[in-house]
Amino acid sequence: MRPVQLGPDDERILAGEEGETRQKMLELLVALGKVFGADQLVPIKSAQVSGASYKTIGEYGLAWLASLDARAVVPAVLNPIGMPRGRWKEMGINEDFARKQQAVIEAYERLGVRLDCTCTPYYLYETRYGDHLAWSESSAVSYANSVIGARTNREGGPGALAAALIGKTPCYGLHLKKNRRPQIVVDVRPGSQSWGIAEFGALGYHVGRQVGNRIPYIKGIRPDADQLKALGAAMAATGAVALYHVDQITPEANEFNGDLSSLEIMPIEPKEITLLFRDHPVDAVAIGCPHCSPRELGEIARLLAGKQVTKPLYIFAAQGVIDLHRDLITVIERSGACVYADTCMVVSPVMERYPAIMVNSGKALAYVPDMCGAVARIGTLEDCVEVATG
Ligand code: F3S
Repeated sequence: MRPVQLGPDDERILAGEEGETRQKMLELLVALGKVFGADQLVPIKSAQVSGASYKTIGEYGLAWLASLDARAVVPAVLNPIGMPRGRWKEMGINEDFARKQQAVIEAYERLGVRLDCTCTPYYLYETRYGDHLAWSESSAVSYANSVIGARTNREGGPGALAAALIGKTPCYGLHLKKNRRPQIVVDVRPGSQSWGIAEFGALGYHVGRQVGNRIPYIKGIRPDADQLKALGAAMAATGAVALYHVDQITPEANEFNGDLSSLEIMPIEPKEITLLFRDHPVDAVAIGCPHCSPRELGEIARLLAGKQVTKPLYIFAAQGVIDLHRDLITVIERSGACVYADTCMVVSPVMERYPAIMVNSGKALAYVPDMCGAVARIGTLEDCVEVATG
C-alpha cells in the first residue's frame, strides 16, 4: 500500500485537534486511499450521500449517524429517503417507520447535509465538467461522470459522508483521466431512432448485465439528456457501470474515440431490447427512477391532462424541481396521480404492498423485484399512463 500524502491541515485533523468525528472521517478516507492506491486527497465540489432510507440502513446505521459530531464543509445532498417528509401519512407510511426515518433525517441535518433527498442533485445545484465530487447513488454517479464530465467514484454512504465532512476524497479510480478510457465498444444496430426514455432504460438494463464494471463506448444511438439518465441508471443497476461514453454525444467521447480499435465489440440488435417490453397485469404504476426532470414532468402532465387514474400512479421528483413546476404538478394531481418528493419506488416501503408494478425505468425494472418483492413490467411513458388510466 502506498502512503497518502497529507497536508498540515490534514495532520492536525488526524491528531484529533478538530474533534473525534473529523479525525475518524479522515482516517476512513486515508484508509480508502491506501486500499485503492491513491497518493493524495483531492478537494471536492460537492458530496451526495446515500444510506438515507431507514429501510436500507436500519437501527445500526441510525445509531452510527447519531454518534457523529461535525458539519459538512462542502455542499452535501442526501439521497432519497423512505417517505415524503410532509406527506408520509397520506402515502400510507406507518408511524413507527416515519419516526425512525425522521431520526435519520435529523441526524443528517445536524451534520450539515442538505435534505433535498434526491438522486438528481444535478437539477438543483450546478455541477460542471471536470469537477471532483464524492457522490454515492449509482445513477447520480453515472450522470455526473458520463453526461456532465465531472469526476467521481461510486462512494459508499460512509465514504461520501466522510468526504462531505472533510471536503476531500481519495484521488484514485475515475478521478484520474487514465482510468476513464473505454474498455468495450457497444454497437447498437440501426433501429433505435424512435426510442424514448423507457427503451434507453431497457438498453441500459441489457448492456449493464453484459459489460459488468467495464466502461462502455456506445455507438449507434442519439439519446437526449433524459434518455442518457435512464440509460446510465440502468447500466449502473444491472452492471456496475459508473462511467460510459456515447459516440458524438457525451463530453469525453471525442477524447477517446481514437483508442477503440483494440477493444471487444458487443453488437446489440434493437429486438433484444424490445423483447423486454412484455404485457402483463399490474397493480400500480411508478414513474421517476431516477427522479423526474422538468421535461419529464411536462410530458406526464400532457399525457394525463383531462384523464383520471384507475390504478395508483406514483411519480417521484426532487422537491426543488416540484416547487419550480407547480403548474405541471397541479395538472398531474388533478388526475388522481400522486407526485412525491424525497422518496422513490425502491426505497419507500409503500410499494411493497403491490404484487406487480409497472415502470418506465430500466433501473426500476432491475430493483423492484428484490427491493419491493414485486413483479416488474417496463413500458413506455405513454403505456404507463394508459395502464394507469385505462
Ligand atoms: Fe433514484 Fe430511487 Fe431510482 S434513488 S435512481 S429513484 S431507485
